[in-house]
Amino acid sequence: MAVNERDIEAIVKSILDGMRDPSALAGITAPASSGDIPKTAHVAMLTDLKHFEIKEYPMPEVGDDDILVKVEGCGVCGTDAHEYKVDPFGLIPVALGHEGTGEIVKMGKNVKKDSAGKDVKVGDKIVTCMIFKDNPDITMYDLNKQNVGGADVYGLLPDDDCHLNGWFADYILIRGALGSTFFNVSDLDLDSRILIEPCAVLIHAVERAKTTGILRFNSRVVVQGCGPIGLICIAVLRTMGIENIVAVDGNEQRLEFAKRLGAEKSVNFMNYKGAEELGAAVEATFDGHLADFAFPCTGNPKAHANIYKMIRNGGGLCELGFFINGGDATINPHFDLCAKEITLVGSWVYTLRDYVTTFDFLKRAQAIGLPMKELITHKFPLEEINEALETNLAMKGLKIAIVNK
Ligand SMILES: NC(=O)c1ccc[n+]([C@@H]2O[C@H](COP(=O)([O-])OP(=O)(O)OC[C@H]3O[C@@H](n4cnc5c(N)ncnc54)[C@H](O)[C@@H]3O)[C@@H](O)[C@H]2O)c1
Ligand SMILES: [Zn+2]
Repeated sequence: MAVNERDIEAIVKSILDGMRDPSALAGITAPASSGDIPKTAHVAMLTDLKHFEIKEYPMPEVGDDDILVKVEGCGVCGTDAHEYKVDPFGLIPVALGHEGTGEIVKMGKNVKKDSAGKDVKVGDKIVTCMIFKDNPDITMYDLNKQNVGGADVYGLLPDDDCHLNGWFADYILIRGALGSTFFNVSDLDLDSRILIEPCAVLIHAVERAKTTGILRFNSRVVVQGCGPIGLICIAVLRTMGIENIVAVDGNEQRLEFAKRLGAEKSVNFMNYKGAEELGAAVEATFDGHLADFAFPCTGNPKAHANIYKMIRNGGGLCELGFFINGGDATINPHFDLCAKEITLVGSWVYTLRDYVTTFDFLKRAQAIGLPMKELITHKFPLEEINEALETNLAMKGLKIAIVNK
């Protein structure tokens, strides 16, 4: 029988399909896949203090409730730097990286929707949030402050047979059985997706601040500390319609960036001696008024002690700077708290709901022209992960990210 042109076309198509997805040739039903999945994955494994090795592992099976993600990028967090330097959680060997994002390349048949109920398919871009195996009470719409402080997270899991447990890798396996949460963020660009996790910290802090009833439309607000956390705080406040913001830091470059992200004015604390003088400088910067509300974002006990002098009687503050123990702060409870009737709240990580608010915040920030992406000052390929962590430890730049080729 002669083979006509149409047959040849069909044969070529089926071979090409087979090359893209070998299961198409074998005629078996495999999990949905975008094809071209290599046989091995690479993971930056922290095998010793200050020492990552790029390890190669067989690509794991994708179970019915699992998602295989091709990693595009992942921010370096202060917690990663802490692990790299001293391994406080005793996790070594560990696959780090929890501020990651990437593209779904394969998923099990039971995976249909993300943790917010949005459809997902192969090719979508996702981020992970916390792992809630032991606490099913924490749900998306639990607004009654269940933050995720005690939960696990990809990027800080103990190593296991899968090994693909952190975002500093070229592939990661999100497992349904672990109680993973994840979100479809295909409508955000890569830089925005890398910034989601730290931004969620500030969405939560602002939600905590709002519980005091003191933070209102265009309140006078002091943001103390202009590292990534303080800078994002300013951007979040700005997208909420608060423009009366004074940024405080000792670094002029950071103060300049704070203004581009939405602070109206700035105060360099290095120019003032003592808390009283600094408080007076902040008051003068607000045209003779103390702040209604303050966000201390430094992790420095001396800064916490100083902040009360910048706040008016009846004002409030949200302390969020002490993710790690930076030591005790000395305040005068009579002058600083009682006599001024200060309302104080603390803020710790975020809730699932804050994650979804964060996606909207990032779009709004972009829409009003805030240069959020400039927060990412350094990008390193996976092979240069040791340099990336050293850059973070040397306190160069703002946000350091691993971006895969
Ligand atoms: N609450 C949470 O869930 C949470 C999450 C992540 C990070 N954090 C904390 O947020 C803090 C800030 O994080 P970051 O990444 O921006 O850190 P960073 O070190 O980059 O920035 C801190 C900034 O504070 C400034 N600073 C220091 N002392 C000051 C003072 N006396 N007055 C004014 N400014 C001062 C520094 O110059 C620096 O710019 C960290 O301590 C971290 O532990 C908290
Ligand atoms: Zn982090």
